[in-house]
Amino acid sequence: MILVTGATGTNGVELLKALAAEGEMARALVRDPEKATSLLPEDTELFRGDLDDPASLAQAMEGIEKVFLLCPVSPKQPELEANVVDAARSAGVRQIVKFSVIHASPDSSSTLLRWHAAAEEHIRASGLAYTFLRPNIFMQELMRQADSMRSRGEFYMPFGPEVRLSFVDVRDNAAVAAKVLCESGHEGKTYTLTGPAALTFPEIAQSFSAAAGKQIRHVQVPMDAWKQAFASSGAPDWLVNQVVELYETFVPANSLVTDTISRLLDRPARTIDAFANENAAQLK
Ligand SMILES: NC(=O)c1ccc[n+]([C@@H]2O[C@H](COP(=O)([O-])OP(=O)(O)OC[C@H]3O[C@@H](n4cnc5c(N)ncnc54)[C@H](OP(=O)(O)O)[C@@H]3O)[C@@H](O)[C@H]2O)c1
Repeated sequence: MILVTGATGTNGVELLKALAAEGEMARALVRDPEKATSLLPEDTELFRGDLDDPASLAQAMEGIEKVFLLCPVSPKQPELEANVVDAARSAGVRQIVKFSVIHASPDSSSTLLRWHAAAEEHIRASGLAYTFLRPNIFMQELMRQADSMRSRGEFYMPFGPEVRLSFVDVRDNAAVAAKVLCESGHEGKTYTLTGPAALTFPEIAQSFSAAAGKQIRHVQVPMDAWKQAFASSGAPDWLVNQVVELYETFVPANSLVTDTISRLLDRPARTIDAFANENAAQLK
């Protein structure tokens, strides 16, 4: 049996669909079973728990062989991830598949990258078998600006037209996670997951324009203005600062393209063109 945390989120839902398609038994750790029922495949076992509640984690681990650890972006991330690792070790879990981030490192200038690296280190030190998945920024993040693309034909980024990023589709992250959870041979491995190409924002705008059948433009905004807009949308200070720090590490590091997805899945990674076409209805 596999325990999935972050089950109702962007990647978690896709992972549980992929596990169900493989006929694999999965238990989802969820805070709100009613919400989870509407999102997850019907055979998913729901377990009410919280990453901030070690007693619930101890119960959730009963009979579990492998854990998929996805921690939300949170000011308590180090503590929440440590709770899962400690509960897994105490329960005799065999392997943890940790959802991390590209370029996680204890030496990073980004708090988020350091926290992911610290969780990886905690897992290594636990003696549990592990696999680390380190995805780049998700294509799905672009759809946060679907309203503005639809109404004004624009999306806004604190990056210039020369910056290249290898956005990855969360369904590819999920397919890799499902494979790693369902078969052996991935223990001790770190997989960096990227899309098939490092694209500029004008190139992404072109894909979205073609899919929507109208012009969609990338508009560069200064980092300070972007930061203010994010804060005035209600984001707390810690999150605004973490995202700015993270974005400042993006150039040029996040233009890295790996063949991990195509190698592991034996098919190409999903492209931005395909993503734009699938989401065209939201852009028109
Ligand atoms: N965004 C990116 O482009 C990107 C790129 C690389 C790596 N990452 C990493 O990916 C992770 C986020 O993945 P995601 O976008 O798939 O997540 P997400 O959509 O934000 O979902 C977060 C999940 O965590 C659950 N959750 C929140 N607080 C919890 C708690 N206290 N106890 C138990 N569950 C809790 C949420 O459940 P509820 O439904 O109850 O809220 C939800 O299922 C982060 O670790 C981030 O650093 C992100």
